[in-house]
Amino acid sequence: MRNIYSNIIEMNRKSLTKIEKILTKGQIIALPTETVYGLAGNAYSNSAVKKIYKIKRRPKKNPLIVHYYDLSKAGNDFHYDKNFLKLYKKFCPGPITFIVKRKKNSRISSYAYSKLDTVAVRFPKHKKIRILLKKLKFPLAMPSANLSGGVSPTSPKDVIDEFKNRIKVVNGGRSRVGVESTVVDVTDKNKILRPGAINSIDINKIIGKKVSFSRGTKIIKSPGNLGRHYSPGIPVVLNVKKKLKGCAFIVLGKMRKNDKDTFSLSLDANLSEAAKNLYKTLRKVKKLNYKKICVMKIPNKKLGIAINDRLKRAAIK
Ligand code: TXA
Ligand code: MG
Repeated sequence: MRNIYSNIIEMNRKSLTKIEKILTKGQIIALPTETVYGLAGNAYSNSAVKKIYKIKRRPKKNPLIVHYYDLSKAGNDFHYDKNFLKLYKKFCPGPITFIVKRKKNSRISSYAYSKLDTVAVRFPKHKKIRILLKKLKFPLAMPSANLSGGVSPTSPKDVIDEFKNRIKVVNGGRSRVGVESTVVDVTDKNKILRPGAINSIDINKIIGKKVSFSRGTKIIKSPGNLGRHYSPGIPVVLNVKKKLKGCAFIVLGKMRKNDKDTFSLSLDANLSEAAKNLYKTLRKVKKLNYKKICVMKIPNKKLGIAINDRLKRAAIK
């Protein structure tokens, strides 16, 4: 059998034309972004978007993020206001996704936004995806490149581990941020629906208003925010003080440094580094055949907020 990792492709002038062709034909391919790897398809094509849902086994009700090179390429797809523009100018391209009102004559496939009035849009920063987005005549619908409910991939090998030889992936190295983009709803009092590298303090500074964190209770603001998600496939127990027998113990800092069952997200207790290592560590521990993961308490500030958000969801039984 052919080595499945040969589906990892380098981006150069020749392969760029090939990648463009794959996407223009309505096929899908995994691409690197600065947050996590994504599964990309033409956002204007119903059949391409349907393929994404199928291969990810994603519920149709959970809409996708549409990725653009910049605002000038967004055409007639969505409405935006002053606050959106302020945030766009400050943070884009970068790890932030906006929920905006969709225009009636938008060309985006209705499957991508699950027939809602709104759509999620993002302008990613990774050099390789920017080269591609600049050339393409359409934006890319792109969820994280993992099977629905699992841990997002942060390296090309992670993507191959998820989909085996069913998908090609462009090598963009290890994702710099390591957790998915901040999702901010700018249609409704600027609510953060998913925390990420850009936090509410950063956002408040720019728009001069208080943004709140929403976990959509009554109204489902973000369908992807419901139920268990980001799951490594084994039980996760949070806020553990002492290592439990037989568990992999995930910590921050130098605690139990030489213990074989202890895995530090960052020896310097740096929360950005910890976020970058979070999914990598969850995948590693699963591969090592541990049956359970215990995690020490992680400070709930800066990127710790996003880490705790993902871990809480991973721990739902
Ligand atoms: O960093 C990221 O955002 C990565 C990379 C690949 O760009 N993408 C990503 O996509 O995390 P995904 O599909 O795994 O997560 C998208 C989230 C889901 O929670 C989804 O429910 C939410 O965005 N979402 C999408 N459209 C929405 C909408 N119209 N209203 C509310 N939430 C929406
Ligand atoms: Mg995802």
